[in-house]
Amino acid sequence: MKAIVAVDKNWGIGKNNDLLFSIPEDMKFFRSTTLNKVVVMGGNTLRSFPNGNPLKNRINVVLSTRINREDCIIARSYSELFEIIKRYESDEVFVIGGASVYREMLPFIDEILVTKVEADGKADVFFENLDKLDNFKVIFEGEEQINNGYKFRFTTYKNTAVKSF
Ligand SMILES: NC(=O)c1ccc[n+]([C@@H]2O[C@H](COP(=O)([O-])OP(=O)(O)OC[C@H]3O[C@@H](n4cnc5c(N)ncnc54)[C@H](OP(=O)(O)O)[C@@H]3O)[C@@H](O)[C@H]2O)c1
Repeated sequence: MKAIVAVDKNWGIGKNNDLLFSIPEDMKFFRSTTLNKVVVMGGNTLRSFPNGNPLKNRINVVLSTRINREDCIIARSYSELFEIIKRYESDEVFVIGGASVYREMLPFIDEILVTKVEADGKADVFFENLDKLDNFKVIFEGEEQINNGYKFRFTTYKNTAVKSF
């Protein structure tokens, strides 16, 4: 299982239940990476999407106590979520947020695609600082790019101590 996330220089990921930045190149990367795959998210992240609708051309798995909809697979607990995820190939599953779901799922994720944005988005929700965790190693660091006025780079972290569920 993988995760994909965009972080600012403080590992901030969101503010007021929205993203910190609009970076079309990063959105394109997110879309092409997750297309036709399984995306796993929390209820707040689903509610943050345009009109609160799931992502097209992906299997949307949503952890929620109160969302009811036919176009998503709903998990009412982490144990239900793990049962659902087990139906798919591990490489097909992407955890896409938000903060609480990333935090709970982190031990079980083997690779994290982190877009690092060189800015302070004044976030109110954060990702774990992977550079402070012994079991996460950088295995890819792309060139710095600029898009929509933001400097950013694509990186990949590997979890060397993945837990099974
Ligand atoms: N930068 C990025 O790459 C990125 C990616 C994704 C999201 N984000 C940002 O992250 C923020 C949202 O993060 P968040 O931590 O507030 O929310 P979240 O993790 O998306 O969702 C939290 C929700 O998940 C459900 N949930 C959590 N634990 C549960 C459990 N044990 N059983 C059943 N349901 C459970 C609940 O939904 P219900 O309330 O529906 O019950 C809860 O309110 C937003 O600002 C968003 O823009 C950033």
